[in-house]
Amino acid sequence: MRRIMIVIGACLALSAPLAAQQTTDAVAPEAATGGAIIATSAAVAASLAEKQAGRPVTAETWMIAAANPYAAEAGAAILRDGGSAADAMVAVQTVLGLVEPQSSGLGGGAFLVWYDAATGALSTLDGRETAPLAARPTLFQDAAGEPLTFYDAVVGGRSVGTPGTPALLAEAHRRWGRTPWPALFQDAITLAEQGFPVSPRLAELVAGDAERLARFPGTAAYFLPGGKPLAEGQLLKNPAYGDTLRQLAATGVDAFYTGPIAADIVQTVQGASGNPGVLSQIDLALYQVRERPPVCVSYRAHEVCGMGPPSSGALTLGQILGMLETHDLPGPQSPEAWRLIGDASRLAFADRGRYIADSDFTPVPSKGLLDPAYLRARSSLLSGDDALPEVAPGQPAFDHALNLADDEAIEFPSTSHISIVDRYGNALSMTTTIENAFGSRLMVRGFLLNNELTDFSFRSHRDGVPIANRVEPGKRPRSSMAPTIVMKDGRPVLVLGSPGGSRIIGYVAQVVIAWLDWGLDVQQAVALPHAVNRFGTYDLEAGTQAEALFAPLEALGYEVKARDLNSGLHAIAIGETLQGGADPRREGIALGG
Ligand code: GLY
Repeated sequence: MRRIMIVIGACLALSAPLAAQQTTDAVAPEAATGGAIIATSAAVAASLAEKQAGRPVTAETWMIAAANPYAAEAGAAILRDGGSAADAMVAVQTVLGLVEPQSSGLGGGAFLVWYDAATGALSTLDGRETAPLAARPTLFQDAAGEPLTFYDAVVGGRSVGTPGTPALLAEAHRRWGRTPWPALFQDAITLAEQGFPVSPRLAELVAGDAERLARFPGTAAYFLPGGKPLAEGQLLKNPAYGDTLRQLAATGVDAFYTGPIAADIVQTVQGASGNPGVLSQIDLALYQVRERPPVCVSYRAHEVCGMGPPSSGALTLGQILGMLETHDLPGPQSPEAWRLIGDASRLAFADRGRYIADSDFTPVPSKGLLDPAYLRARSSLLSGDDALPEVAPGQPAFDHALNLADDEAIEFPSTSHISIVDRYGNALSMTTTIENAFGSRLMVRGFLLNNELTDFSFRSHRDGVPIANRVEPGKRPRSSMAPTIVMKDGRPVLVLGSPGGSRIIGYVAQVVIAWLDWGLDVQQAVALPHAVNRFGTYDLEAGTQAEALFAPLEALGYEVKARDLNSGLHAIAIGETLQGGADPRREGIALGG
């Protein structure tokens, strides 16, 4: 069996004490890993070879790019047999929940962007977790009203929101599926019951998180059998997950939201030793996927479209691109290009921290934030030569009076991205998460439960002024996930997204710019060394050519840090052929036919 080394960097914590920075923004994302990925078939070997050579995978009819070869193969099999992108996504997600359990799964939430070839319509579905009805704004505060430390909040039942991913799979299949529902679970069930080799990334992440995984007996028994972390290459079976999938395959996702599985989820959350949560069976029974209007912005004669609130993804990405629209970006080696990108990002993140939350609970000035006149005014702040000394939220037009304080919350990047184009011309972009690596660390019936509620602001008010993204019963925590489809003349030309916490927005912006402004192909674009600025500190990807920007950006006035920047970008360009790109920093691949 052929083995190909994929080298992936490590992540460090950042603690810039700046306005609008959330608790989770300051904590290290899912750690980076290195190791050898096993090619499971000739197609996977060929894809890995292209990735290592820095070339995109090309195909004529369909394409998938996802975070693990087993998952990509499961989706590819569905597409090859005439299934739709929505069908393939169900197969990919159910396998990812097994082979990449730290990042996404049945116990989490997701956002999906869909281009429908038959109608030309773009839809976005919100499968984000909800806060339990018993949750209160003080959920993550101690008795004195002070925010809990991050991991005190995360580990246990307190952080668990009502999972949305199972309902999203069902809704996508109901709308756009062509393959019978039970068939979509078969590969995941077989792998769960017969076993799969633990990937290098999973093994390293388990070893790095062993102390927290050991706190709950069910989680420890699976990830630390006999008290030892799972080893790379070890055959791992998950019959409990196989059984859960069999029930969903046979009777649909009601088997998840009501009945014995729901009862077990609630018992696990409420019974979590030392840090119980308040999720109840009524929360599960009431869960609903929401369709939201897509958020689009014009950039270089294209429309860049994605997920609106409760995600900040498309609005913040749209603001960055909207501010850059009137500027030339000389090229990836140019400090001037990165000054413009970095300060546009800082301005957008200042607005994000003030204004963006679940719009079902807090009025969000979405239109004002992307209004061309507003973006021109914000963009004019970039006309100097140096880094902006200070950045503050602007005042977008809005038909509500607003008095909001800046947010304090963090999004973690234990997340995965799936991009798919099917033979019918449909395109799907879905970012899926359980939040921090291994989520709440609570495991039930073979899957991990999310800690998505820590994406809320831990503080509810600042100096008596409410924070938009505070915890409220039934509310969805603000996200940075940015599943994106770039359109040209009403047709999709680029499908992309990434994990990475609030750096997702910078990673996705960088690929759009690399592809549209700098003419890189999708593989070059996803592999391009990262430079990301959210709150003022300029993060450069350690050990890459991005470090050449260190001195020039410092000279412009930025505080610069070299660090591992662990994206997991998956992109498909749609032209005369399909071209797929998979992030060399993680284990994903593109497969096409
Ligand atoms: N939990 C990652 C995000 O939603 O942005």
